[in-house]
Order: sequence, then structure tokens, then C-alpha cells
Amino acid sequence: MLTTMNELLVAARKEKRAVGAFNVGNYETLLAVFRGAESAGLPVIVQFYERVVNNGHGEPLVAAARALAERSAVPVAIHLDHGSTLEVVARAIAAGCTSVMIDGSRLSFDENVAITLEAVKLARAAGVTIEAEIGHVAQGDEGRDANLQESVKFFEATGVDALAVAVGTAHGFYAEEPKIDLTLASQLADAIPVPLVLHGGSGTPQDKVRALIASGFAKINVATEFQYDYQLKLKARLNEVQKFFAVDLLEAPVVDSSAEFIAQQLKFFAGVK
Ligand code: 13P
Repeated sequence: MLTTMNELLVAARKEKRAVGAFNVGNYETLLAVFRGAESAGLPVIVQFYERVVNNGHGEPLVAAARALAERSAVPVAIHLDHGSTLEVVARAIAAGCTSVMIDGSRLSFDENVAITLEAVKLARAAGVTIEAEIGHVAQGDEGRDANLQESVKFFEATGVDALAVAVGTAHGFYAEEPKIDLTLASQLADAIPVPLVLHGGSGTPQDKVRALIASGFAKINVATEFQYDYQLKLKARLNEVQKFFAVDLLEAPVVDSSAEFIAQQLKFFAGVK
């Protein structure tokens, strides 16, 4: 069933569990997320990079996600990840996303507050959930941990529903083990009442992810690990087939196997065996 991120995350934070949010880029990865969530019997968030929304694939993919969500046995929220402009936020909402992220983390504090406030207005008018970011989770650039006082000020000024706070993770593969600041994470969780979001979930040590969930992180983003797993499975499938296969049949076992990856991750974040 189609839902908003708020409906999933507020309860999750209260119960000290987290919901997995996976970046999809095509119909097969979308299907893998749905199948994985259904086999785990757990809610899920499917999310799209703004590239997907800006290059014209957003509308049809979000429509497909909504159709799958409506007939799904588990609650599903459909989210825009890292929207950098108000235009892409508006476009994602119009396409049917039930939540959006405005990412002003590369801007100055005041500029981040200003753009986030505008995005909050768009989200509120449409009844969708809004996520923003404070500090900066490295994305091929230099990361910057969130500052406690600044984060509280940001939350109070914007009133966002969920807040991504940088505590030492980074997007993509890690060259070395990340230094996660668990003390900062729990101070942030104590001071900010809404669900916190962990970006850069791929490769983050499991004991750290567990500790962050226990402190108040209720949404864990995973893109690289999921898509690389999909890539390796697709490669193996292509190496194995020796004759012509219609593409849906070619990719069906890859989707099924990728769904197992999603189910495992969701169970780990939810704390179920
Ligand atoms: P990873 O690619 O490191 O899993 O990060 C995902 C993410 O945070 C998407 O916003």
C-alpha cells in the first residue's frame, strides 16, 4: 500500500528500528525492492536520484512505483533523494512522490535554511513528507560532520519531518573504514525529535548501523551496495546464458536474487531475524 515516509519513520524511531531506503534507476531494480520488501513482510522506501527525475524517467518510473505500491501487501513510500533545486522537488511531487528531500548541504547555513523553508512549503501544500540535510555527507567530495547547535537551530528554523545528519559516513564505497561519531549521533538524536536519516549506508560497519538505529536513526539509505550487487548478478547471468533470451526472462532471476539482498537488509534494519 502506498504511504508517506512520515507514517513509516515516526513509528520506526519510536520503536528503535529503521526502514531501508533503496535508490532505483530502472524497472528491474524497482521490482527487486518491491519483491524484497514483500518477502521480508516489511515496509520500504524506494527512492530516485534527481538525475532520474530530471532526465525524463521520473514520471513513468514513479507511476510504475505507485502502481506496484497500490497492489503491494507492505507499506511503501516513494521518495526523491537529494533534490538540489525547488524545481526538481516540485517535479517529483507532481510525478507522485510521497516524500521529497531538499539537499542544501553544500550551501551556507542561511542558504540551506532558506531553500529548505521553500521546499517545506511545497511539501506541506501537497501533503508529502520532507527531508533535509545538515552537515554534509561526502558525495565524491569532502564531508563535514553536523554541528550539534547548528543542527538544532536548523531543525527549529525549518520544521522538517526527517533530518539527514552527517556523522562520518560517505556515499559510495569506502577506501578505508569510516569514522562514525556515535557520541555526536546520540547528542543529535537527543536534541532533535524527528527521525534522523543515515546517508551512505553502503559498507558502513553493521555494529555502527545498529548503534545509530538504537539512538534514533530511522531511515537508512543504501544505493551503491544494492546496485553493485545487482550489477554482479546481472553479469553472472549474462555469462551463464548461451542463447537468446527475451529480456524479461533474461533478467527475471537477477531480480529475484536481488530481492533477497533487499529482504536481508530490511530485516537487519528492522532488527528481525
Ligand atoms: P550509498 O551509495 O553509500 O549506499 O549511499 C546511499 C545514499 O545515501 C543515497 O542518498
